[in-house]
Amino acid sequence: MPIGFFDSGLGGLTVLEKALRIIPDEDYVYYADEANIPYGEKTPEQIAQYAREAVECLRDRGCKAVVIACNTATSVAVEELRQRFSLPIVGIEPAVKPAVEQTGHRRILVMATPVTIRESRLKGLIASLDAEDTVDLLAMPELVRFCEREEYDSPAVRDYIRGRLRDKDPAAYSALVLGCTHFNHFRAVLGDFFPEPVRIIDGSMGTARRLRKLLEQRGIRGGGSGRVEYLVTGGEPAPEALAARAGRLLDRLKRMEKEES
Ligand code: DGL
Repeated sequence: MPIGFFDSGLGGLTVLEKALRIIPDEDYVYYADEANIPYGEKTPEQIAQYAREAVECLRDRGCKAVVIACNTATSVAVEELRQRFSLPIVGIEPAVKPAVEQTGHRRILVMATPVTIRESRLKGLIASLDAEDTVDLLAMPELVRFCEREEYDSPAVRDYIRGRLRDKDPAAYSALVLGCTHFNHFRAVLGDFFPEPVRIIDGSMGTARRLRKLLEQRGIRGGGSGRVEYLVTGGEPAPEALAARAGRLLDRLKRMEKEES
């Protein structure tokens, strides 16, 4: 039985790529909700509805577990989804905890969607770490659109980032948390706006590890070979076109990781 992943679009591939690396003995179904992207600019009620439909679809495809590869959907809907569905559900949330631990309460900037920033889940997480005074939040919704156009580094991308950082002092931050799965595709270009040594931290590997642990604990690990099937809502792009795009993105993520290590 495969593992289901869902996101509003291509952002969740950054989590899938980690899962393929550390759990290669599984098959995957990746659900891209292109009909409803961007989640980060919808209401919580709308997002909860999209998330329910995604999990229903993945369950009906026979998935044995589901990963919400989207910070926005996790912040709005993870509790409700866990109550509603009996299959194991793993969410992703902005990696503020590792950032606080790694930087010892120095200043941190969290980039996320407007919904993730507004919702109480992230605020609760920051309060639980006693980090309200050292964590700044910044919504970067256009990065989602750039990502979907596969535009990762262009004058327009740089102008946008520069504009959003206008009121911030990048030198003040010791860590940048990427609190939206789409933003991982911009790691390299974002890094250019911060003087060394800013750490860029995201929750994708942590989420893949949690998934592996959960599969092991439940005794449901294995049985696949790293195959990925793609589903797209709204008919545009066609699943084959999305699969081709996803293949390019997964290759690019792998290259970026090799360069970083
Ligand atoms: N990739 C999603 C996230 O992690 C949401 C992007 C969007 O659709 O706004 O938050």
